[in-house]
Amino acid sequence: MKISRRSLARGLAAAGTETLKVTARVYGDGSLPFTFTKGRDSQQLSWSNGRGDVDGEGSYDRMHGSTWDKPGCTSPAKSTKKIEIAKPIPARGEKMRRAIDWFATLASLALVAAGVCAAQSVIRPGEPWLDSRGQRIQAHGGGITVWKGTYYWFGEDRSQANDPEKRYVACYLSRDLVHWKFRRQVLVLADPEHLGPHWVLERPKVFANPSTGKFVMYAHLDDAPYKLARVMVAVSNRIDGTYTYVRSFRPLDEESRDIGQFVDDDGSAYLIFESRPTKGFFLAKLTGDLMSVEKTSFIPAPLEGGALVHYGNLYYVVGSHMTGWRPNPNVYATAPALTGPWTEFKNLAPPEANNYDSQSTMLLKVKGSKTTTVIFMGDIWRPRELWDSRYVWMPLEMDDGSMHLPPPQLWTLNVKTGESAIQANGK
Ligand code: GAL
Repeated sequence: MKISRRSLARGLAAAGTETLKVTARVYGDGSLPFTFTKGRDSQQLSWSNGRGDVDGEGSYDRMHGSTWDKPGCTSPAKSTKKIEIAKPIPARGEKMRRAIDWFATLASLALVAAGVCAAQSVIRPGEPWLDSRGQRIQAHGGGITVWKGTYYWFGEDRSQANDPEKRYVACYLSRDLVHWKFRRQVLVLADPEHLGPHWVLERPKVFANPSTGKFVMYAHLDDAPYKLARVMVAVSNRIDGTYTYVRSFRPLDEESRDIGQFVDDDGSAYLIFESRPTKGFFLAKLTGDLMSVEKTSFIPAPLEGGALVHYGNLYYVVGSHMTGWRPNPNVYATAPALTGPWTEFKNLAPPEANNYDSQSTMLLKVKGSKTTTVIFMGDIWRPRELWDSRYVWMPLEMDDGSMHLPPPQLWTLNVKTGESAIQANGK
């Protein structure tokens, strides 16, 4: 792309801004007004088209090159090069650095204009993961719900600004599993059962009921010493709307602490819950209205952080040992059916790697037009600063009954084809 003197001047003028408004005619399908917001603690850049959906979100990273994605972009050849700054905001300093950023951004737009429609985006395990506002994603111990072709990530919101008396669940949406738009704190709950100080709401998971269009959130509810051991249920009419607390109970009348979620290929939904007295995971099928559970299976292994996936002809279950927030080598077993028989548990990664300091929360299957990737979703907990807890998402190496978690590295994912690839310059 050729940068004219005029655009150079404009770039410099814009270089000190936090927000840049530009008009970018990039896909040949009309001129879209984008608002760009630059993350404060990284070079991540996000934008929206003002209509409240995620079209056009992406990121730019000074260290690792740039990505510029438009999910669903199919006609890059029609792209044009017109880019102009509509409304720069006065500079606040650091002009040179921001100028570099700005021209690199122009360069990435130029790539799009030249017909590079990258459907791939980079996932950076262990690094701060920023949402479309440039803020840390707060979705710890989380789960993903797929609804109408969009991914919704729910998890514990441990933001520093939260009221310490309340517990929060945040919701983000994405179409590529990389760029996440913050929707809202869908649950803001005051102690619902007189549990007392330091009461616990952890590992929220949301299930969708396609026949009623209703959404049901489960979460681990507890008192400070973790003696209550129940699940709570909250409901909403919109997946990313406000959830209303309904009740808490012990599923199957068993103690229930860490919970996980699993939706089988036939749409059946399951709650995975850890039961300490019986030393194992219950796989409990949700009832038709999703408001309760019925027993499906029990896996005798004293594990938590339960996650499950169906891949090939096998079910794979993953769990962590019970060391609280401290990481440990996570393990997996397989079975031909949910009712078993389950194999012995084996290590997911070399035990000395300590699961790369992460703990399992979910296994997400991304089935595309070419292949299927199973993503290990784990949490790197920082108990003293839970808000700063990180995520390890990595594509699992799966082969006929074996499952291996590779070391955290940069990798790309294409949700359309299902392809994932660890980047050559990986770290
Ligand atoms: C872990 C559990 C977390 C949290 C933590 C508290 O074992 O997986 O969700 O409950 O203990 O110590």
